[in-house]
Amino acid sequence: MTRRPAVLMATTVLVGLVPATANAEEEGGGPPSPGAPGIGDPYYPLDGNGGYDVEHYDLDLRYDPGTDVLSGTATIEAEATQALSAFNLDFVGLDVSELTVDGRPATYTRAEGELTVTPERPLREEHAFEVVVTYSGVPATIQDPLIGPSGFIHTDDGALVIGEPDVAATWFPANDHPLDAATVDVAIAVPEGLEGISNGALEDAATEDGWTTWAWEAEEPMAPYLVTLAVGEFEVSEYEADGIRFWDAIDLDTTAVPFLPPPEDPAAPPPPAPEPVSVVDQVRAALARQPEIIGFLSGVFGPYPFSTSGGIVDAVPELRFALENQTRPVYAPGFFADPVLADTVVVHELAHQWYGDSVRLAAWQHTWLNEGFATYAEWLWLEQEGVATAQEQFDAIYTGAPPEFWQVVIGDPGPGALFDIAVYFRGAMAVHTLRQVVGDTAFFQIVEEWATSRAGEAVTTDEFTALAEELAGRDLDDLFQAWLFTPERPALG
Ligand code: ARG
Ligand code: ZN
Repeated sequence: MTRRPAVLMATTVLVGLVPATANAEEEGGGPPSPGAPGIGDPYYPLDGNGGYDVEHYDLDLRYDPGTDVLSGTATIEAEATQALSAFNLDFVGLDVSELTVDGRPATYTRAEGELTVTPERPLREEHAFEVVVTYSGVPATIQDPLIGPSGFIHTDDGALVIGEPDVAATWFPANDHPLDAATVDVAIAVPEGLEGISNGALEDAATEDGWTTWAWEAEEPMAPYLVTLAVGEFEVSEYEADGIRFWDAIDLDTTAVPFLPPPEDPAAPPPPAPEPVSVVDQVRAALARQPEIIGFLSGVFGPYPFSTSGGIVDAVPELRFALENQTRPVYAPGFFADPVLADTVVVHELAHQWYGDSVRLAAWQHTWLNEGFATYAEWLWLEQEGVATAQEQFDAIYTGAPPEFWQVVIGDPGPGALFDIAVYFRGAMAVHTLRQVVGDTAFFQIVEEWATSRAGEAVTTDEFTALAEELAGRDLDDLFQAWLFTPERPALG
């Protein structure tokens, strides 16, 4: 990712002449000082920022696939949590042409993905303020040797935003950490004939001068990394089921390489690699099961936490993962080349709507709370589909995983192992072991209570283990210590 050098804009701020300083002190907030450049995540010290809470992002953008340029304004409504002389937004690349705070020009500097804003007057603690950033540029795509492209991906016919943890700041100025969730409206103007998809509900699509503006509104607060954008030629279907409004967007050019059956004669030369084939029918079939899957998950975890849903599948063959974008997950085409994976990846991303999106992480080290639960949801689904029991999944990994697998301390894996397969599988095994130890009645009470009592909140591993102990009515230290914090294979109880 390219980082821009600091650019100091030449505007003089006469802070000394502004009476707000005295007001801030009188109100007991202390003298104004700069907000911290990070929200306090030990893994990602510069992610998020201190001193304010965002309530709402309004992104009014235009994307031109001909030039790859994204341009427009981000309006950020926030509240100061301290008296602020300056504050940061996370924002990488892209040129800022104008920046105001409460309608007045503000000065700003940029360095290391941090946009530091100095308002004309300091902001009092609890002051609700509005930042408007006008910007444009070609968003940089994140490249990872293991997972390929992520973040803002420029596709054959448009763009696709998918990734975690650091994605939002590559295309809009944000308090880019799940601790600060906010409601989001995205209006995306694209050349007439293309679709622009984002989270939540489609409120409007209007064409003027050859550009169609698609206006999306997400009414439930979300972490910035969960905001998505897909621009291109999509088949968009809108429907309603069980009181939830769905929007699915499928690129009809979506192809994937079919999975080969194992060879009958292992000594024979390997067959030629199969050509990619259209998987559009498989995508339609898997997404058609979303209402049924949400029904199944609601039975286990409690009511679906949002008012809208749906999925996005774009023809990006090099994409190798899926993401739980709030109300509208994005899936790599490759999942749909296999009938079992096609359904289970949808189960996984929809389970994240409860665990990851609604109940979100207070710090990235707790990511097993997202991935372990979403993976366990897959196991529960496969059990009721008659494919394999949760116990069989557990046993296969317990006996089959290589030694390195057991070295990952999933309760604190470090940023390099945040999405290690152990965080997923050992996480699900920890959940399964909890079920074995406390029994089904207490277990299903714990998972539902976790989703419903902490809906919309940021959580930690300690809070989960405390809730489990409370509802099970017993000490579970040994279990969690062995499964979450010990770099070896736990003994079976
Ligand atoms: N949370 C996503 C999922 O499990 C996976 C994201 C993978 N990201 C990565 N950097 N490896 O559905
Ligand atoms: Zn996941």
